[in-house]
Amino acid sequence: MSEASKLTILVIGSGGREHALVQKCLASPMAERVIAAPGNGGMASEVDCFDLAVENIEGMVALAQAQGVGLVVVGPEVPLSLGLVDALQAVGIPAYGPKKEGAQLESSKAFCKDFFARHHIPTAAYANFTEVAPALEYLESHPAPIVIKASGLAAGKGVIMAETQDKAIAAVKDMLEGGAFGDSGAEIVIEETLYGEEASIHAIVSGDSFVCLPPSQDHKRAGEGDTGLNTGGMGAYTPTSRVTAEMQAAIEEAVIKPTIAGFKADGIEFNGTLYAGLMLTDHGVKVLEYNVRFGDPETQVLLPMVSDDLVPVLLASAKGEPLPEKLNFHDGAAIVIVLAAGGYPGSYPKGEIITFPKEIANRAAIVHAGTKRDEAGTITTNGGRVLSVSSQAPSLKEAAELAYSVCDQVNFESKYLRRDIGHRELNRK
Ligand code: AMP
Ligand code: GLY
Repeated sequence: MSEASKLTILVIGSGGREHALVQKCLASPMAERVIAAPGNGGMASEVDCFDLAVENIEGMVALAQAQGVGLVVVGPEVPLSLGLVDALQAVGIPAYGPKKEGAQLESSKAFCKDFFARHHIPTAAYANFTEVAPALEYLESHPAPIVIKASGLAAGKGVIMAETQDKAIAAVKDMLEGGAFGDSGAEIVIEETLYGEEASIHAIVSGDSFVCLPPSQDHKRAGEGDTGLNTGGMGAYTPTSRVTAEMQAAIEEAVIKPTIAGFKADGIEFNGTLYAGLMLTDHGVKVLEYNVRFGDPETQVLLPMVSDDLVPVLLASAKGEPLPEKLNFHDGAAIVIVLAAGGYPGSYPKGEIITFPKEIANRAAIVHAGTKRDEAGTITTNGGRVLSVSSQAPSLKEAAELAYSVCDQVNFESKYLRRDIGHRELNRK
């Protein structure tokens, strides 16, 4: 690799996903230097972090220019939906992720559902509303159980699974009249309840070309047995035997390819991540939603499974250039367990000192999310999802044993984790 082709890479965000991206970039022969904004306590131990909010588009562009950045990797959806990639491209800096127009696939569920309908992509039957009266009329002909969704970004909280008609009516009124979820609830999607197991497919897209990462499954509920409140995700694993090679090929044909063709037909230039949240129903695979960034914590299991250098792939996507035909992956399985602060996703304490093991096995990694590092190097808790522990092994069972043994060696006062991550896959006959 000539010095001239080495890059300074800026990773934007502060979660476990971004720490995993920083680590993957640091491992690349193409990386001259990796920096992050705003970063977290773990990233601060490895790379220079710049304290800028992810919403600060002008500030991020100025930072990238001042640091001579050759590739920006955008972690979260908010800066994508605010047009960060458009702003970086305008000053000639390649940035991984879709521009604002493409990011609507995640930032507007109503836009996404209409996109699915227009391009015949399998999804739950639905209708979009901005007024209460027609929404209530629709509920009369489509009674509960039904799903009511705030169309805009709501950090995973804007989905109400209404088991009763009263709950459905209340959700419609809360969102459209009561200001629940603010502007994000000014438009709603009402859709059919689907039943089945959920799985995720992540594709890296560049114009007409795409490569898929292995299928994964996550655990969104806070409590064991997949009970309790929805969270950003308490753990994940890859691969899943529910998505066989045949099913993966069918998903690429029925979902990913029509989506890319749909972008072309609609005149949308889309480069970056397409993360399809799927429901595997008895009547085939249906798409629940698209995200336009990597999942968190899925990234912590997916990236370590990629045996190729990912930086040239992200750079090609950022430039809209063709991707390699396929990515290569390690054999075996990977799991990630989230260590949360007690109380998450409700209120939780901050500022607890975290202690770490001196050494961990080399197929395990501790990735930081809500942590802070002071000048003396002390790491304290600073968010709901505090850390995550990931590992790879020949089987999911061995990966889980390894990850949980590391989880037991990381401590802070209110530490909370689910002990059953991967239970569906581990218990399959
Ligand atoms: P979404 O943000 O649209 O993916 O929804 C978040 C979560 O709500 C999903 O991961 C599902 O667990 C659940 N969900 C969303 N839509 C539906 C649906 N139509 N039927 C059943 N569950 C759903
Ligand atoms: N783990 C779910 C998400 O990233 O949206």
